Amino acid sequence: MRMVDIIAKKRDGGELSKEEIDYFITGYTEGDIPDYQVSSLLMAVFFNDMTEEERANLTMAMVKSGDEIDLSAIEGVKVDKHSTGGVGDTTTLVLAPLVAALDVPVAKMSGRGLGHTGGTIDKLEAVEGFHVEISEQEFTDLVNQNKVAVIGQSGNLTPADKKLYALRDVTATVNSIPLIASSIMSKKIAAGADAIVLDVKTGDGAFMKNEEDAIALAEAMVAIGNNVGRNTMAIISSMAEPLGHAIGNALEVKEAIDTLKGEGPEDLTALCLELGAQMAVLGGAAATLDEAKEKLQAVINDGRALEKFKNFLENQGGDASVVDDVSRLPQAEYQFEVKTDKSGYVEEIAAEEIGIASAMLGAGRQTKEDEIDLAVGLVLKKKVGDRVEAGDTIAVIHSNREDVKDVEQKIIDNYRIGQTQNEIELIKQVITK
Ligand code: URA
Ligand code: CA
Repeated sequence: MRMVDIIAKKRDGGELSKEEIDYFITGYTEGDIPDYQVSSLLMAVFFNDMTEEERANLTMAMVKSGDEIDLSAIEGVKVDKHSTGGVGDTTTLVLAPLVAALDVPVAKMSGRGLGHTGGTIDKLEAVEGFHVEISEQEFTDLVNQNKVAVIGQSGNLTPADKKLYALRDVTATVNSIPLIASSIMSKKIAAGADAIVLDVKTGDGAFMKNEEDAIALAEAMVAIGNNVGRNTMAIISSMAEPLGHAIGNALEVKEAIDTLKGEGPEDLTALCLELGAQMAVLGGAAATLDEAKEKLQAVINDGRALEKFKNFLENQGGDASVVDDVSRLPQAEYQFEVKTDKSGYVEEIAAEEIGIASAMLGAGRQTKEDEIDLAVGLVLKKKVGDRVEAGDTIAVIHSNREDVKDVEQKIIDNYRIGQTQNEIELIKQVITK
C-alpha cells in the first residue's frame, strides 16, 4: 500500500477501505508517514467528506492506536456523558452523583479546562484533598462500591488523535464534521463506556456556533457510536448564554451542591434532568424518560443525590464537609458588583466573552501549563429575558486582585440590554439513531 494512492483516491472522491484507513493511522502514529502526506489527505477529507463506514473505521483506527480502558469489571451498563464544551457548564458535577444515585454506574474519565471553557477535574479539585490520580483498579472498585468515580485522562489514550489534532490545527482542517466527530468519539470509546450521551452545544459560547453545524456533528457522532456497537444519543443544547449562574471552579461546585439539593438555577436543573434521564434509560434504571425524570427528582428531594456526592468526594480524598458548609470552599478575597446603567431586558449575554472575562481573573488557562485560581470567577445575577433597571447588579466578580476594571468593562460590553424580552430555547433537539 502507498500513501500517495490513498491521497489520490480521496482527492478524487473515492471511499477508503478499512485497510487503507488502518494503514495511514498506524503509519502516522508510528512516524512512518510524514506530516505533509497526512496534511494532504486531511484536506481531501475536508473537501470530499467521508461515508458513515469510513467515519466508523477512522474512529476505531484511532481507538486502537493507544490504550483502551477496560471497564468490564464494573457491573451494569456504563453510561458516559460528553459535552462539547461551554461556559459555566456545571452539568457533569451534578450528573455524576445524580445518576449514580439511581444505581447506574458512572465511570468518568475527565479533563482540565482550556481557554474560555472549564474542565471537570479543575472544578472538583476546588474541594480540598480531592484527587483523580487513582489506579484503574481503584477506579473500578470505587464504581462497583459507590457507583461513581472520576479518573484523569490516561497518558496514552488515542495518540493518533493527539497527533492528527495538532496537525489539523496548523493546516486549517479542524473544522470538518467527519474529523471532529471521529476525534471526539475515539476518546469516548477508548475510555470504555457501553453507552454515550452527548451534549452538543450550540450558540456563542460553543465550538459549533450555528445550529445546523451542531446538528450535523451530533448526527455524525451518534452514527459512529451506534455503528461501532455503543448505544449513543445526543441532545442539542443552547450555549447562547452561560449555563446556570456560576462560572469558575469553586463557584461551580457550590452551584452543583445547590442543584443537587433542588435549589439550583432553572436552566442548569432542566438540562441535568434531561441528560440524566437519557443516561438512566440507557443504563436500564428506567423504561421511559418520564419515569427517569421522576426517579431523578425523587433522589434530589429525599437527599440521596447529595449524599452520593458526599461519598464520591470522600472516596477520592475530598473534604465532604463542604457540602454542608460551602464557606469551606476556596473563597476569593474580593467581591465586586457589576451594575448596569440601562433599563430594559437582558437580550443577549455573549457567552464566550463572559468565559474569557472569568479566565482573565485566573479561573481559566490560556496554555496547558498555566496555574489556575480555584476561588475566582463570576456569578451572573441576570440572565437573558430578565428585567433590569438602571443601577441593578447584573453580575458579581469574585477576585483575588483589587483592580478588576478590565473584567468589569468586559462584562458590561457583553451584556446587551434592550427592549425585547428574548427567551432562550435550552434544549433544541434530541438525536437518536
Ligand atoms: N474537540 C475534539 O476533541 N476534537 C476535535 O476535532 C474538535 C473538538
Ligand atoms: Ca454554571
